[in-house]
Amino acid sequence: MSEWKRYTITAALPYANGPVHIGHLAGCYLPADIYVRYLRANKKDVIFICGSDEHGVPITISARREGVTPQQVVDKYHKMMGDSFKEFGINFSIYSRTSGAVHKETAQAFFRKLYDEGKFIEQETDQYYDEEVKQFIADRYIVGTCPVCGNENAYGDQCENCGSSLSPTDLINPHSTLSGSKPVLRKTRNWFLPLDKLQPHILKYLEQHKDWKSNVYGQCMSWLQTGDGLQPRSMTRDLDWGVPVPVEGATGKVLYVWFDAPIGYISTTKELLPDTWETYWKEKDTRLIHFIGKDNIVFHCIIFPAMLMEHGEFIVADNVPANEFLNLEGRKLSTSKNYAVWLHEYLEAFKDKQDELRYVLASIAPETKDSEFTWKDYQTRVNSELVGIFGNLVNRVLVLTNKDFENKVPQGRDNSALQAFISGQKDKITDAMENFRFREALTEMMNLARHGNQLLSEKEPWKTIKTDRDLTAAILYDGLQIIANLAIMCEPFLPFTSKKIFDMLQLDATSMAWADAGKTDLLKTGHQLGKASLLYQKIEDEPIAAQIEKLYATIDKQTADKESAKKEKMSEQKIAEAAAPKGEITFEDFAKIDLRVGTILTAEKVEKADKLLKLTVDMGYEVRTIVSGIAEHFKPEDIIGLQVSVVANLAPRKLRGIESKGMILLAEDESGKLIFVTPKEPIANGSIVK
Ligand code: MF3
Ligand code: ZN
Repeated sequence: MSEWKRYTITAALPYANGPVHIGHLAGCYLPADIYVRYLRANKKDVIFICGSDEHGVPITISARREGVTPQQVVDKYHKMMGDSFKEFGINFSIYSRTSGAVHKETAQAFFRKLYDEGKFIEQETDQYYDEEVKQFIADRYIVGTCPVCGNENAYGDQCENCGSSLSPTDLINPHSTLSGSKPVLRKTRNWFLPLDKLQPHILKYLEQHKDWKSNVYGQCMSWLQTGDGLQPRSMTRDLDWGVPVPVEGATGKVLYVWFDAPIGYISTTKELLPDTWETYWKEKDTRLIHFIGKDNIVFHCIIFPAMLMEHGEFIVADNVPANEFLNLEGRKLSTSKNYAVWLHEYLEAFKDKQDELRYVLASIAPETKDSEFTWKDYQTRVNSELVGIFGNLVNRVLVLTNKDFENKVPQGRDNSALQAFISGQKDKITDAMENFRFREALTEMMNLARHGNQLLSEKEPWKTIKTDRDLTAAILYDGLQIIANLAIMCEPFLPFTSKKIFDMLQLDATSMAWADAGKTDLLKTGHQLGKASLLYQKIEDEPIAAQIEKLYATIDKQTADKESAKKEKMSEQKIAEAAAPKGEITFEDFAKIDLRVGTILTAEKVEKADKLLKLTVDMGYEVRTIVSGIAEHFKPEDIIGLQVSVVANLAPRKLRGIESKGMILLAEDESGKLIFVTPKEPIANGSIVK
């Protein structure tokens, strides 16, 4: 379709099981919002659909853990997510939820149509049932011993130790994580979508979309090509939380959450546009685009399209620009481990700094591969790019215009070179936007701001004003036109900034659109400008350090929890196992380790780290810093002067920002007591231990 009449843009419905974090934003919501804002600036007919995904097993588990009802869980997070998205400027046309009435009716009607038309296969299978909590257990919540590698904590669907994909009945010694009890097999009847039979249609659909991002297309193809290809998948579950299966004799069964949730896009559109919703889901000239993270690819590119095709009345996605994952300070984000930067907490700690986070996340969005957020990088990008380049340009031009030209747009001159440059930038940004390369679009937008700064440093209007007023006028005229262009083209990324610039320029934002970008007469000579204020403030070290501390506290807690769990296990039964000798190594293996004697010269506690001591060690040939986890065992003053054995060629690593080079050898007994491995008599520092 070359001319799309309208756009239906969806962003994955987040599980109402925790607050929004920066991984969600960078992976899905921010790119979707950028694209939608761009379409709106182009005066397209567009709806932007999202809402909370309120069903699924994890929500029932959170509810049980917190001792509340699933409804209470989703009520809490639905509100929290909706509020924080809004404050962050994610401009959904509607933010709904899948526990609503319209959704229930829509999802049931969808299922019923497929059911009546015989599109499902009904199948009886053996499923594990937990007699204590009286419910069938989803595969993920059965744990047992992996038949392949012997890992005792393998899940019913997969062993994370050896990677084998399993089914719950493969597990040796299965137990339910809901109650800890041994589950029993029970027969149950469910309705399966025969994806195996639909595979040729899916393949044809995918082959029409070779233009999709290669990570997305590649993942789809591997689903089709791995093993026997697609398998029938059950669209119903034995569970009491969800949309009831609208079939006689199906009590105690609900729709599979991945059946009901994507239908949420349709039901939400119905809520938004009760009279015209069908246009956005049935007309062939509507372009449907799903923004998602990579863990959602199979559901949006295979299962949901298969459902839509089987239903027959709906369009399918024309593109699914899925992103990869964002990591945080070297680790995976995790809602369950509370390791994240939560949006609501960010908004609280960094008041009115929405655009700062939008900027950084858009700059590092994991468009083609996983990427990483660090607080230091956040600080650097804000300070050197937003404050140093963008804010600086806007401020300088406006301050000079105010000072020398009574805050009115001065007289310009021929500026065809600038004209060409700006429209060139616009073309680059437009092309990148159209192809979902938002990072690149943002870079080109910033390049326009950089160009403005260059212009100022070259032409020095603060100097020329003393000798040539007309020339100065022309320079500032150009500067102002650049700023007006930036106000338009930064809007998808930095909507709060854009609005501020429009206010400062006394321009009506609604009178300007993407079509106006590229022009150099957006502001007319004589136009009265408004009051200038700084767009951004420098981010100081303290708030950044506080955020980093907060993250480390979560990690420390995780490690502590893990350690105490480990100790418990140890004391129970595992002592013998831990004492078992390690496997044989060759002499070459051993010879790789550079073991040497050194003397501890200084020792001090590492601030806010209970376990760590920072040591300087004289190695004979050099003095180096080593951070050692022994603070709970030794007082610094007691170990100064001690000769110890050091693994001298261990790759350096950073602990609490301190680079640690090497490792001190200690012996540990069963009770956890530590003693240094020291030479029996003093020997020269740097001596080799062999
Ligand atoms: N709740 C899912 C997740 O967070 C996404 C659901 S998308 C939908 O991963 F299409 F099913 F709505
Ligand atoms: Zn295994």
